[in-house]
Amino acid sequence: MRVLFLLLFPLFCLVCSQKIPRLKLTPKDALLRPFPERDSPKPMFHEAGSNQVLIGGRGVLLVLTFTRSGITQKEIPLKADEKVEKDCRKKLTAGEENRDAKNCDNIIRVIEKLDYRTMVCGTNAGSPKCWFLVNSTLQQDKEGHIVTLSAENIVPPLLSQNTVAVAIEDNLYSALSGNKSSIQRSYGNKKGIKTEDSWLAKAEFVGAALLPEDNPSKDEIFFFYNAVNESAGLDEEPYKAHLGRVCKVDQGARPILTDSWTTFLKARMVCGHPNEPMRFHHLRDAFVFRKDGKDDAILYGVFSSTWGSSAVCSYSMKRISSLFKTSNFKGVTGSIPTPRPGTCVSPDSYHLLPRQTLTFIKEHPELDVVIYPDEERPLYVLQNNDTYTHVVVDRVRDASNVSYDVLYLGTAKGKIHKVLRSRDQTVIVAEISPFKEQEPISSIILDASTGHLYADTKSEVTRLPLTDCNQYSENCWKCVLARDPYCGWDMDRRRCSAVSQEENPTGSRLLQSLDSTNTTYVCEAAEAKLAQESLKKVSVDPTSYIYLPCPLRSHHAIYTWVKDDKTYPCSMDEQSCTLRFGESTPMDQGVFKCTAKEEGYQEEITAFKVTLNSGKVSEVSLVVVATGIVFLTITVLLL
Ligand SMILES: *[C@@H]1O[C@H](CO)[C@@H](O)[C@H](O)[C@H]1NC(C)=O
Ligand SMILES: *[C@@H]1O[C@H](CO)[C@@H](O)[C@H](O)[C@H]1NC(C)=O
Ligand SMILES: *[C@@H]1O[C@H](CO)[C@@H](O)[C@H](O)[C@H]1NC(C)=O
Ligand SMILES: *[C@@H]1O[C@H](CO)[C@@H](O)[C@H](O)[C@H]1NC(C)=O
Repeated sequence: MRVLFLLLFPLFCLVCSQKIPRLKLTPKDALLRPFPERDSPKPMFHEAGSNQVLIGGRGVLLVLTFTRSGITQKEIPLKADEKVEKDCRKKLTAGEENRDAKNCDNIIRVIEKLDYRTMVCGTNAGSPKCWFLVNSTLQQDKEGHIVTLSAENIVPPLLSQNTVAVAIEDNLYSALSGNKSSIQRSYGNKKGIKTEDSWLAKAEFVGAALLPEDNPSKDEIFFFYNAVNESAGLDEEPYKAHLGRVCKVDQGARPILTDSWTTFLKARMVCGHPNEPMRFHHLRDAFVFRKDGKDDAILYGVFSSTWGSSAVCSYSMKRISSLFKTSNFKGVTGSIPTPRPGTCVSPDSYHLLPRQTLTFIKEHPELDVVIYPDEERPLYVLQNNDTYTHVVVDRVRDASNVSYDVLYLGTAKGKIHKVLRSRDQTVIVAEISPFKEQEPISSIILDASTGHLYADTKSEVTRLPLTDCNQYSENCWKCVLARDPYCGWDMDRRRCSAVSQEENPTGSRLLQSLDSTNTTYVCEAAEAKLAQESLKKVSVDPTSYIYLPCPLRSHHAIYTWVKDDKTYPCSMDEQSCTLRFGESTPMDQGVFKCTAKEEGYQEEITAFKVTLNSGKVSEVSLVVVATGIVFLTITVLLL
């Protein structure tokens, strides 16, 4: 049984290595702060280049400033209007409608930067309202009254309904979920228009993004959401991922779509292969990454399934955009009017759209196409008892000036996975545990200009450096095998150093191996032996059974226990490959060594010299061994 496990393990892990995190890290240089109030979602806003985040709470907006020495906090109270709150609480005690008492508070749901102001919108006890922030203080009019705005089409009244907002050229676009979901231009100098009630039914929105074109009047805005089927059976998938899309300059058109989008189109989206059963339909978050021009834009989506696993997919935005321009319309057999319904036209031509085009889009906004990921398969499926809830992406130059995408994925247990997408594979470089509590990530924001990642849960907020090469600094192999594109081995200074992200970097060349093909012989010695003095001596009674721990560092390595060329099986858990003497592995004496092997590199992790003392049966004894990484207890069991 154990032998079988040992034989299968290496094979099994060739396949699984890309789907479990290689390292488990607790960041050393992270700033962490708990919130005083821990029971509401915490939307977060950060302006690139600044050292501040705004976080919405219950009746309060927090302005957090990150400095070298810590985090300072300013609170801006934003209470619900007294009268509205009173009425809400009366209804609550009378047992009417929304029974959750939090619905009678002002829960902040949207924070977005518009013009010179930041808009902050909350539920305001069921009568949604926005405030404006200028230089971190509430904007007032000439009479000294605080400026507010009614926000029915920006924030849904109930906490259970979600909302997504995006500010584009000083206009706010928002998507509200509920039994009648909607997408609208809700604030700004352009005309306010929205979706028709029949277009979206019940939707759960997860994100939105602008896709710019060379001609700005062709710019498109995408909304990512799940269509929710409440009558789906227990074993059916109630969520179906969708993309909705409008033209930025759409004005609506009389007489058929006077106050509605004339360019709204939608299509289904799946993470998986068209002909394979393992497909993911529930979109949890979406991020459009664009750096070197629009042709390069990539949509990254994280999905979950009803059976509890989680997958990451990528989609070329160019391909999606062209599918929207060429696919057939659902439920249409006859001819398609010209101009093709949904085409972006110049802002002053919307009123010229022919009646047939408008009637067509009103009745058939759905495309008869399912959008599959690039190469028709997920980048990977997570083999871990956790679910991805968030994704953000950075693009990094390696030591030889080749660009790689690095994904940061937030999980339902408050972890962050740092993932390298190299040419031929996707590697979970590390699982970072920055939080004290295991709660779902609420938001995650990446600021490439300062090299920081901000993340929060409902009870804590943190800021992490993107580059943290000290984590792999022991030797060349540890640095290179980490496959962290931000770091490389500096041969002159003999340490793991940050790769310069400057256009024309100067200084010494760093050793890296980000693609799997050529890791061997990057560093000099491919073998590390333990120093003689780290041999741990254990003297035990021959009738006792002991456990020898071997702490894991890389979860992609293969661990083996050896004594005099004989291999011993070990039992693996999250922390250790433990050699257990017992019925099937009789007690023996000699030097037992545990070795880790990974991609041509071999390292002795720990070694014990076990001697059996003759005769005398000792009492229960306890040996505590310091391994240098963790403290482990060896229990000496008496028969
Ligand atoms: C915000 O503060 C900056 C510097 O403190 C100042 O230059 C600017 O005028 C202020 N903006 C407004 C709208 O008050
Ligand atoms: C929702 O699920 C039910 C049960 O499977 C099905 O009959 C119905 O057609 C679905 N509705 C939609 C809009 O897909
Ligand atoms: C997965 O996690 C859940 C809750 O965190 C727990 O109840 C369950 O036992 C775990 N399953 C496995 C296989 O670890
Ligand atoms: C690195 O690549 C960028 C973009 O591809 C280019 O602009 C830059 O000149 C390159 N730098 C060096 C040192 O080759």
